[in-house]
Amino acid sequence: MGLSLTDIISICDFSKKDIELVLETASQMDSLPKEKKARILENRVIASLFFEPSTRTRLSFETAIQNLGGRVVGFSDPAVSSTSKGETLSDSIRMVSGYADMIIMRHSIEGAARRAAEVSKKPIINGGDGANQHPTQTLLDLYTIKKEFKKIDGIKIGLLGDLKYGRTVHSLMYALAHYKNVEVFCIAPESLKMPEEIIKDNSGQLEIKETKNLHEFLPELDVLYATRIQKERFADEFEYAQIKNVFILGREILEKTKEQFRIMHPLPRVNEIKQELDSTPAALYFEQAKNGVPVREAILSLLKGVEK
Ligand code: CP
Repeated sequence: MGLSLTDIISICDFSKKDIELVLETASQMDSLPKEKKARILENRVIASLFFEPSTRTRLSFETAIQNLGGRVVGFSDPAVSSTSKGETLSDSIRMVSGYADMIIMRHSIEGAARRAAEVSKKPIINGGDGANQHPTQTLLDLYTIKKEFKKIDGIKIGLLGDLKYGRTVHSLMYALAHYKNVEVFCIAPESLKMPEEIIKDNSGQLEIKETKNLHEFLPELDVLYATRIQKERFADEFEYAQIKNVFILGREILEKTKEQFRIMHPLPRVNEIKQELDSTPAALYFEQAKNGVPVREAILSLLKGVEK
């Protein structure tokens, strides 16, 4: 049995069965010999259209494509595409879906990936649309938690920083709601709180607590998922400057945490995590980024051959 989806747009479209299938396939990818992997996307062309900057999402997808024997076309800067001449997103996607077997895209506008999926003849994979969704990041976050803790049920996770604009934490809330006895601690200043709608949508399935104080629940946490305060989402630079260093994690937090406590971060970080934490067992964020490759290999292999 494959995925119940023809496009990867929002984590909210995933059933628990779909999520578990991606995690199981990613685990297989992690241990599959290179020669076997290299035939999965043989003779396939995958488009990688990044209308917004990216390091991890684009490069891990493109690495995954190469590992699976596929070929990549695309751009990492819309300035070199006909977008700069005024071509609409719909027209660009219609065109590219005639060239490639799948399309990975990132766009600054919320809903852009959903719109692309409506006009594309081939599967669309959302690599992030504005402050909305980043489903493949969520799948690699879940994979990282499961690999580290051998389970997701019962996990106690703090979400820290920009919970208002942070698409990774929005997607993660919805995904965690599929699991049992998960406790989520939303830690943010008043102006960057988790949107009320997301709290409401998930409060039946998750035990959710909100605080402005990082230290209030620190000793209870298995994972602290830190996020960057996203300068690019603020209309007012002064407001950004006032809040940008509100939480900075250093070695001292480890005096209060459990032995198995881990720090995750979708990266890039700016000031949120001091480098002094990088060499501690708590630092899981670089391993998390590395897990992007098997998880994206899994997604590409599961979408191969999907008819729309
Ligand atoms: N985590 C993440 O989406 O990183 P990039 O913006 O570098 O792709």
